[in-house]
Amino acid sequence: MTALLPQPRRIDSERAAGYTLTSSTRISADPALVEARRWLQQVLRPATGLDLDTRDLSAVDPESGERGIRLTLDSALGAEEYRLRVESDGVEILAGAAAGAFYAAQVLRQLLPIEAYRAATIRPNTAWTLPAVSIEDAPRFGWRGVMLDVARHFLPKADILRFIDLIAMHRLNVLHLHLTEDQGWRIEITRYPKLTEVGGWRRESQRGPVRDAPGDGRPHGGFYTQDDIREIVAYAHSRHVSVVPEIDLPGHSQAAIAAYPELGIGVDEHGRGGPDLEVFTRWGINPNVLNTEDSTVEFFINVLDEVMDLFPGTHIGIGGDECPTDQWRDDPRTQQLVRERGLNDVHDLHGWFLNKLSTHIVARGRKPFGWDELLEGDPHPDSTIASWRGMTGARSALARGFHVVSSPDDQVYLDYRQSELPEEPIQVGIPLGVARVFAFDPVPEGATEEERALVLGGQANIWTEHLDGVRAVDYAAFPRLCALAETLWGSDASFPEFEARLRQHLSRLDALGVEYRPEAGPHPWQQRPEIPGRPSDPAERAAHVAELVANIRLTP
Ligand code: ACM
Repeated sequence: MTALLPQPRRIDSERAAGYTLTSSTRISADPALVEARRWLQQVLRPATGLDLDTRDLSAVDPESGERGIRLTLDSALGAEEYRLRVESDGVEILAGAAAGAFYAAQVLRQLLPIEAYRAATIRPNTAWTLPAVSIEDAPRFGWRGVMLDVARHFLPKADILRFIDLIAMHRLNVLHLHLTEDQGWRIEITRYPKLTEVGGWRRESQRGPVRDAPGDGRPHGGFYTQDDIREIVAYAHSRHVSVVPEIDLPGHSQAAIAAYPELGIGVDEHGRGGPDLEVFTRWGINPNVLNTEDSTVEFFINVLDEVMDLFPGTHIGIGGDECPTDQWRDDPRTQQLVRERGLNDVHDLHGWFLNKLSTHIVARGRKPFGWDELLEGDPHPDSTIASWRGMTGARSALARGFHVVSSPDDQVYLDYRQSELPEEPIQVGIPLGVARVFAFDPVPEGATEEERALVLGGQANIWTEHLDGVRAVDYAAFPRLCALAETLWGSDASFPEFEARLRQHLSRLDALGVEYRPEAGPHPWQQRPEIPGRPSDPAERAAHVAELVANIRLTP
């Protein structure tokens, strides 16, 4: 039996003969499920060389010999739930909604020979046989996500569309795009063109994570036009991936300040902030943060209005992570704002600022989505918390009644090194291999029933300081995303059983041209011996993780 990944909830392999696609095979679908039919035709036509023409569902006589592939709506099933049955005379798919039909179609492709993953027919005589099987399936979590940082390194639109196909293949359904950073602003905002004209590129990039690493002397940049974004969103939508945008505020905002200096804190005696800033060329946490003037709130409400016009999904990311308050503390005007607003001190400005934006997001019928630093204040009750500093944020958010998406750095940060091998490219973080991702559970240990219900799911985060393009992202993402998909879909497989399936699954990634990390370690061309990593010593790494956790202040 072909290795399915993620593993469906229930598979019954039958001893009977399977079904073979031929030049006379037709696909029929309920009107609500035509997108899954179109997608199957779109991927299978070039790979198989078969027409796989459409036939009206009503024209299919269940009593006649050849049924072909039939996709039928079954309102008794959940929206992401499906049944798939292969018999000798055809394939029957029942789905609760379009998403379930799409997942069934993905599984159908997995049931075919590996060549179904190629973009052209390579062996005209291939027997396109599906094994006789009966599958009942539905996911455990509704949020099965990946965050892609397209700000540290821009990923061209074509690479994003390809990435959407790769995650959809694994039945992952959320792509969180981290669109803005100190190092670059990547989304066109028509009202503020300098955000991309100035903020969309930087002079050079720091070479690797070592503190005093030199710059590479090479300009880097790029951004998505609003039409690019519309295309990405629509492309993802037809693959049942919702795209969650993030505008990271009020820290990680130097690119915006470089474009519009009035958003920053004026040059102070330390020479920080204000008009002389360029788009940041270094990595790490940056002291240059937004001021919290009413005009700055208004600026980002206008930005978020354009963002909400482009992204139709429920969740709108406002970031909130890693915002040092030193500039606020040292700035007399900011202290005046603290007094005028009746706040205790500058720390309260972080929550004050994000709540202004959250209130606006909620007024437009959406939900604010932010990192666990939101919990340092009193976030809007409709906020969803992305817990990243281990599972501490998740536990605290659940205890306070917030929805949670778990993305603990020590389990699902896919920029972290994949092993202790010295050959791993540009090493950061702790060793985080496939097994560690496989063991991830988005529900914190000891959560009550009510708390469990607040966990929307989980996501892996792919930060790209040291991933400078699609080939490096492939290496970081795969096959660890296969393990993430398996665990978020809800498999109860053992790791050895999963590993055996994964080894077969890798030939699908080979056929698609995905440059994943080989099990034995990186290929020579995937190594970056010229760029030292950090920290190299395990004790230093453990201290780094301990420091992260020690710095969490989650109760207001
Ligand atoms: C984060 O890793 N700064 C959310």
